[in-house]
Amino acid sequence: MATQPRTYEDDRNTASQDTVYTDSNGVPVPHPYEAQRAGANGPLLLQDFHLIDLISHFDRERIPERVVHAKGSGAHGTFKCTKSLDDLCIADMFSEAGKECPVTVRFSTVGGEAGSHDCARDPRGFSVKFRTEEGNWDMVANNTPVFFLRDPAKFPHFIHTQKRDPSTHLTHSDDSTMFWDYLSQNPESVHQVLILMGDRGIPDGYRHMHGYSGHTFKLVNKSGDWVYAQMHMKSKQGTGFITQEDSANYSPDYSQKDLYGAIEKGDYPSWSVEFQTMTAKEAEELWETQKINVFDLTHVWPHKQFPLREVGEFTLNENAKNYFAEVEQVAFNPAHMPPGVEPSADPVLQSRLFSYPDTHRHRVGVNYQQLPVNSSRTSHRGANFQRDGSMAFFNQGSRPNYLSSIEPISFRERSVNLDKVHGEFISDAVTFLSEIKPEDFNAPRALWEKVFDDKAKARFVSNVSGHMSTCRYPEIIKRQIAIFREVSDDLATRVEEATGIKGYDGIANLQFNGTHNGMTSNSKLRYAN
Ligand code: HEM
Repeated sequence: MATQPRTYEDDRNTASQDTVYTDSNGVPVPHPYEAQRAGANGPLLLQDFHLIDLISHFDRERIPERVVHAKGSGAHGTFKCTKSLDDLCIADMFSEAGKECPVTVRFSTVGGEAGSHDCARDPRGFSVKFRTEEGNWDMVANNTPVFFLRDPAKFPHFIHTQKRDPSTHLTHSDDSTMFWDYLSQNPESVHQVLILMGDRGIPDGYRHMHGYSGHTFKLVNKSGDWVYAQMHMKSKQGTGFITQEDSANYSPDYSQKDLYGAIEKGDYPSWSVEFQTMTAKEAEELWETQKINVFDLTHVWPHKQFPLREVGEFTLNENAKNYFAEVEQVAFNPAHMPPGVEPSADPVLQSRLFSYPDTHRHRVGVNYQQLPVNSSRTSHRGANFQRDGSMAFFNQGSRPNYLSSIEPISFRERSVNLDKVHGEFISDAVTFLSEIKPEDFNAPRALWEKVFDDKAKARFVSNVSGHMSTCRYPEIIKRQIAIFREVSDDLATRVEEATGIKGYDGIANLQFNGTHNGMTSNSKLRYAN
């Protein structure tokens, strides 16, 4: 008879034929369906530990699902550096071509629950845990380069409008009032709305989409010099989309099936890893000349000025053996960065650095980092003074739990001069986070005018008007049309025709309930109530 699993790999590879049926305590039980009763038809006995053990564990099977991105799929694979980045970054994983590290990736939709449809019109999450020699780097990205907001205080409001109504318990598929109410009050969302309601709003599974950090990070080199950077992960399978009409023909787990099936049959999906970079001086100039603030993730960096530089690629070649252990319990945290990668002052990123480990302690438990799927794989043995708490499996033995002079631990020297690392660019770029400016409409206008062809435009308008048909207040639609008019007259007029609702002529005379309207010269109108 095999012994109980001693290691994670042992457990992960357990095969039924090597096992014998036991209770949770390892005591063999002759049959899983034999409840102990007082006589043939008598009541159950409290002494039946096996039954109580079984049912009480079942009663506790669920952990909270992720508050966002609850529906997801994951897999493991390998990252390989193809071109060294050591002129810009000291991170070991980029130090030389050929360097490899394992990765775990999780893709997701955003608003739906764990059991929801994975072909929903929604951004997709794209999280990568690079298991580097220097600790894990969690790139917690989306499949869109921009986001709906730049003020983190708006996030819970925005997400609530993507979830079920507190009273009707319906989602925005049945009643889109909240959805458009939020967007029509927060015009900085319009760039992401163009992406969401356009073809990229329903990617053809997770293999056919790119990933973007969205946020600006900093890469630091050995001299302590740094550049701003955005990461792009480009699908080598190409991109593809599903139309709104067609999406009804897809099963709720299509994206899961597609990813799992491809990996099972050896058709391993892969993505290149590329960076756009810019110096602090270029960031200042970008603000002065184009009013693009690198701390504002509703904007993209112009590709002509800031071309992509490829540094590596990753391939997913292994499915999870156990979904719960390896995908549900995996915890990605944007604050996990190796030396050489630093956060920027982007306020949304800064808030996320707090939010993820906070939710992990709630969702998985205080010692979530000890779970095999979350723990790091460094060759040095880490030591710290975090102890105890629920389920402390690894508790650092008899080592002192304070900084002891009798049993000292060692410290690595800082790899770079932090004075330069923490230098920030400060100019008039730091303004009221939600102020709407004419520049907010430039990128969505370029999408509408230069990227969408006629068919894509028609699909966009049909997606928007179809979705708006369950919005209960025409006033909300009139305001959203006003926002579309700032993007393009043509776009606004087409939405008017499709909805049969005449919108406002632009936003100059509108007030917003959480947004400073910088599109008007009338200062009285700049704040709503
Ligand atoms: C998941 C918060 C913005 C990408 C989550 C989770 C929280 C959260 C609490 C659940 C994490 C878990 O249970 O493991 C926030 C807050 C934001 C924000 C407070 C803004 C203030 C963003 C942005 C992106 C993003 C801008 C992408 C650029 C993701 C992804 C996941 C996620 C990909 C799923 C992670 C996984 O697969 O486990 N977010 N988020 N979030 N978020 Fe955000």
